[in-house]
Amino acid sequence: MTEQTEETEETRGTPAPSRRSLIGWGGAGLALGAVAAGGAVAMTRTGDDVDPAAAETGAAIPFHGERQAGIATPVQDRLHFAAFDVKTEDRAEFVQMLKDWTAAARRMTAGQAVGEGAYGGLAEAPPDDTGEALGLKPSRLTLTIGFGPSLFEKFDLAGQRPEALVELPHFSGDNLDRNRSGGDLCVQACADDPQVAVHAIRNLARIGFGKVVIKWSQLGFGKTSSTTPEEQTPRNLMGFKDGTRNIAGTETDRLKKFVWVGEKDGPEWMAGGSYLVARRIRMHIETWDRTSLQEQEDIIGRDKGEGAPVGKAKERDKPFLKAMLPDAHVRLAHPESNEGATILRRGYSFTDGTDGLGRLDAGLFFLAYQRDPRTGFIRIQRNLAIDSLNEYIQHVGSALFAVPPGVRGKDDWWGSTLFGKEA
Ligand code: HEM
Repeated sequence: MTEQTEETEETRGTPAPSRRSLIGWGGAGLALGAVAAGGAVAMTRTGDDVDPAAAETGAAIPFHGERQAGIATPVQDRLHFAAFDVKTEDRAEFVQMLKDWTAAARRMTAGQAVGEGAYGGLAEAPPDDTGEALGLKPSRLTLTIGFGPSLFEKFDLAGQRPEALVELPHFSGDNLDRNRSGGDLCVQACADDPQVAVHAIRNLARIGFGKVVIKWSQLGFGKTSSTTPEEQTPRNLMGFKDGTRNIAGTETDRLKKFVWVGEKDGPEWMAGGSYLVARRIRMHIETWDRTSLQEQEDIIGRDKGEGAPVGKAKERDKPFLKAMLPDAHVRLAHPESNEGATILRRGYSFTDGTDGLGRLDAGLFFLAYQRDPRTGFIRIQRNLAIDSLNEYIQHVGSALFAVPPGVRGKDDWWGSTLFGKEA
């Protein structure tokens, strides 16, 4: 965000300030680049030419679309995830907040400041934007909203609650912290620059003041899965390649089959959306680090260097499950062991200081999208009850959200299919 108020096709028509427009647009040049692979639009405001670097890590991902960005779009390096609880009982006020959030999200994902910007406005009023993303590129920021089961106990929404939006059952080994679980709604902010992701959540929380309050949040660094198999597979904190057999963003058929809610799945307002499972999984890093290489590889079911399945030579070779130990993670998580269950993983590593007992509070913030959690995450997680990995991990946070379809254009807003036209 080098300037505050540049316009793009997506934000054109949204209210912009007069005074700053005159100052800001007079000198700065806006270069809209060619559409880069993955649908990202390169932007730079330093001159007339498109900065080639911006096309990759600094680009803007389109906010509008049939689906929300941040699911099948390429996974960025950083995450700030926040779950909110609703404080207002006034439906109209809540809907207005969703509209205000959408307007802000539209601008921030395009690399623009919120509202009238961070400076230059009324000296007597706090600025619309908090300012810490000024000068930074859009950084492929995506903002993805989801609605938790508890939201449907409010605003007369009970009849609209999807059957698939169940309460997640208790799984063996769960040690869930209520303060890191649940939430009426969530926003997943992913970006290549952590400051851009944090700025986005902070400004949404600020807009929501008095209407929603942050219940819990999670910062993530280092993606542990990708939707772009042509790129190098990232590694998780156990040092293993993670996401090898994930659904790619280009696999339209598999996305349709396993990730997107179909028109006939019901309810109508969820068509084109998805369900997001979030699990904060703590790793007992210190114990893992004292485990022999052979045992580590047996537990995962792949080798550490190449990431090849047991008995195979290459990472992308098809796993032969019977060659693995019966309690190997990959063997138990594989679709063939779960009646075909397949999910799109999009998690991140985290390290949140220490636990006061000389151990890192580190692990994997697991995020998975699916068409139906009952035949997705729940089925797989039940099968993982005997996973030998369980000795080294513990699930300490949990949430499930219904992720509505995308915002279609500049008059549309987050949640419009659920809250209807009356708003
Ligand atoms: C800290 C916890 C976890 C770690 C360290 C971990 C690690 C890994 C690794 C290294 C792989 C192999 C590479 C790949 O194909 O992606 C893998 C595969 C997989 N994991 Fe996990 N995982 C964890 C938790 C989970 C959970 C909670 C689930 C779902 C309930 C899950 C589902 C899967 C699936 C579906 C695969 C692909 C299996 C296949 O198709 O071969 N994982 N995991």
